[in-house]
Amino acid sequence: MQRHAIVSLPLGLLAGALASGSALADITPLEQQLKDLESFQVIAHRGASGHAPESSMAALELAREWGADYLELDVQITSDGELVAFHDDDISRTSNGEGSINEHTLAELKALDTGAWFNDAYPDQADEAFEGTQILKLDEVFERFGHDARYYLETKSPQLNPGLEEALVAMLEKYDMIESGHVLIQSFEQDSLLKVHALNENVPLIQLVWYYPSDDDTSRLVEWTGVTPGPEEITDKDFQKVADYAAGIGTNFIYEGEQVIDDDFIRQANENDLRVHVYTINETDEMGRLMEMGVNGLFTNYPDRLLELTK
Ligand code: G3P
Ligand code: CA
Repeated sequence: MQRHAIVSLPLGLLAGALASGSALADITPLEQQLKDLESFQVIAHRGASGHAPESSMAALELAREWGADYLELDVQITSDGELVAFHDDDISRTSNGEGSINEHTLAELKALDTGAWFNDAYPDQADEAFEGTQILKLDEVFERFGHDARYYLETKSPQLNPGLEEALVAMLEKYDMIESGHVLIQSFEQDSLLKVHALNENVPLIQLVWYYPSDDDTSRLVEWTGVTPGPEEITDKDFQKVADYAAGIGTNFIYEGEQVIDDDFIRQANENDLRVHVYTINETDEMGRLMEMGVNGLFTNYPDRLLELTK
């Protein structure tokens, strides 16, 4: 599955392991997952959501078929405690319903059409088969792909989804996704990530950040939740604070047409043991540019385009 993975053991150790016949058997699946993160990762954002309705089985199937390294999904919790894959706080953009996820039971959400909007929004990609698409429960995703895929799951809007972290970690443990090295948890909310770690300290975490110009001084960039200073002001110590709990940072590259991070940000993060994954990059030119800058992975709605570049 990990098409781009390169086991980066020191050469001496690798040679010794091979000579002794033990090969790489001493590496746990979790350690292998972290090693794989040293290689470039193709992250299918809400599945191959440029080709099929976001967070649908059709979008996930395409991403798996093409060989994306991770299936990215946003996770929320229904009023009756079920975990579902859904991005927006308000369900009206991508369904024929109204309100928020946690105002509805699973049965109410399952009765909605979460695919027909795609045909209206993207007539060039429209497919009658998308009509009637149902919201996905997270366990339906795990039942479908199991350990054949890796999952990059966001605790979405934790303040609107009380109980999300507890239910999520319980489900990851039930499906043995953590120790087997099949999941990353990402969030913009540091507290949510720390809650996940309090429940299971082995889950690799990604701190999401969003940089934009300060309202008070538009020449300065700030981070949405204040988890780091802006990229021009960020220090090794700031990166270290994130590295204390996270394996990487997921960041925007552009805010309203202006670039917010550069290759120095990526280098400095890497020097502080943090991978840098950039969201959400859909144009081939920009993918290539970021790869040259040294990013460790890209979130994209078009994993097919990115996979072409990695060949
Ligand atoms: O999770 C990375 C990226 O997906 C964050 O933005 O709004 O698409 O969840 P969003
Ligand atoms: Ca997301």
